[in-house]
Amino acid sequence: MWFKLRVVRLVLPLLAFAAHEPAIAETPAGTFRDWRKGAIDHAQRMRKFLDFRHKAERTPSVVFKYRFDRNPSGVIETYQPGGPTLTARNAFFADLGTNGRTCFSCHQPQDGWSVSAASAKARFEASSGFDPLFRRVDGATCPTAPVATLDDRRKAYKLLIEKGLIRIGLPLPRAQDLQFEVSAVDDPYKCTTNRDTGLTSPTEGIVSVYRRPLPSTNLGFNASIMWDGREPTLESQAVDATLIHAEADAAPDAFRQAQMVGFEKGLYTAQIFDIRARRLDEGTVTGGPAILPLLQSSFYVGINDPLGRNPTGAPFDPAIFDLYEAWAENPRKDREAQHRRSVARGEQVFNNGFCGFCHNTPNVGGHSFDTLLNIGTADAKDLPGLDIGGLPVLTLTCTKGDLAGRVFKVTDPGRALITGQCADIGAFKVPGLRGLAARAPYFHNGSASTLAEVVEFYDQQFALELTQEQKDDLVNFLASL
Ligand code: HEC
Ligand code: HEC
Repeated sequence: MWFKLRVVRLVLPLLAFAAHEPAIAETPAGTFRDWRKGAIDHAQRMRKFLDFRHKAERTPSVVFKYRFDRNPSGVIETYQPGGPTLTARNAFFADLGTNGRTCFSCHQPQDGWSVSAASAKARFEASSGFDPLFRRVDGATCPTAPVATLDDRRKAYKLLIEKGLIRIGLPLPRAQDLQFEVSAVDDPYKCTTNRDTGLTSPTEGIVSVYRRPLPSTNLGFNASIMWDGREPTLESQAVDATLIHAEADAAPDAFRQAQMVGFEKGLYTAQIFDIRARRLDEGTVTGGPAILPLLQSSFYVGINDPLGRNPTGAPFDPAIFDLYEAWAENPRKDREAQHRRSVARGEQVFNNGFCGFCHNTPNVGGHSFDTLLNIGTADAKDLPGLDIGGLPVLTLTCTKGDLAGRVFKVTDPGRALITGQCADIGAFKVPGLRGLAARAPYFHNGSASTLAEVVEFYDQQFALELTQEQKDDLVNFLASL
């Protein structure tokens, strides 16, 4: 009975949320490709802001079949069922552009194939800011920022060092698609406000947003690609990343594209060891990446959809994870057993119905349908638990469509920067949740520096009324994914 009451309390705010339909952006990913030319031209024009090229990317010679890396709460494993990768023979690790960057510059195994803020900072300090991660095109708050002295560089790469954020310069959609104008910009870096790097009018030019690198692993579970779903395929993504982040003269050929995509698709990553729970794949619990290839073979778009869009007609199951069930009943009293019970309880809190409405892909926690969602993380206001300090604020005034007259203040328009639709403002991809412990900070704009902050945000934003024990359990569970 107690458990049932709790379910009701968790589901209620969600129903209120679901009734608020415009928050669910239903535009399929990849339909709009107009952004592409503007974004690539912009990155190429930024080549006039010259970099110093002192340090080459440090790359391991082999990514082994089983690779283990430490992180603050334990060890993360990357598993390649297809066998080891010799990096000299794969374009993912090749310098294909003009600024020394490779895909590996921003997608590394110890960071869950993203870049954690802690690693960005360590790479800055170790290289005095010359590591290829720090390139003016999109590592800096704006390519115009001076980088001559160490102090200049510390300032220019501030958002990357502190929050692991990369600048994404995207053009406003063309006039016939655009339902809003950018009526004001509060930009500490003067990137969107400068005609050379930003907007030329409230309805034309480049908007700079600052986003976390999404993990280039567990990609077989993706229903959409990029935070705003703008890429239709991993191949197109690899081409555009080479032309933009690496400022390449030419697109990689089909052979290199296939190497990059083949490598990424062969990676499976998850936490395998936790300092307090110890091995996460012991006995009948199934943490770690070993089960992921099997899960992927049964994955399809819509596999566990709460809005009745599963192509097989199967009903939605809110119990998204069953990795740590077996730890719930452990009677032992030592600290390891206590922590394991906490992880198991955290899994139950997650499975109560609220989280799984959006994070619904079984045992992965991504969104199984290719729609993006707005949970308010881009709103430029005091958000519980979150820190949006240092991010520019855009005021978007809707001039057409159902929301004409509405004004939105956001740090990132999200999907709306691709579709031009006011209903898509603030909508983002729901990322998969495996390997979280390695890739702090969280959310597209790095606004949650810890998993505890993520949980605090959800608790207050959606009035979940979780107890302190439930919050701690949820954090312990998320850190074990
Ligand atoms: C300068 C850093 C940087 C470099 C270099 C880089 N990426 Fe990324 N990557 C990002 C960022 C930031 C995002 C998210 C951007 C967004 O969604 O707007 C991303 C997103 C991705 C995604 C999307 C994952 C998902 O789940 O949607 C893939 C795949 C990816 N990158 C692969 C690559 C490949 C392949 C290369 C090399 C050609 C590459 N990246 C080079 C920073 C980088
Ligand atoms: C209404 C949909 C929705 C619900 C419900 C929801 N999430 Fe999310 N979640 C998202 C979206 C969308 C994002 C990406 C938002 C962003 O990056 O700004 C996200 C991001 C996250 C992230 C950060 C991942 C990363 O790589 O940065 C975590 C962790 C997370 N959610 C956990 C949870 C937990 C735990 C719950 C339940 C308490 C929950 N979510 C409920 C939609 C949802």
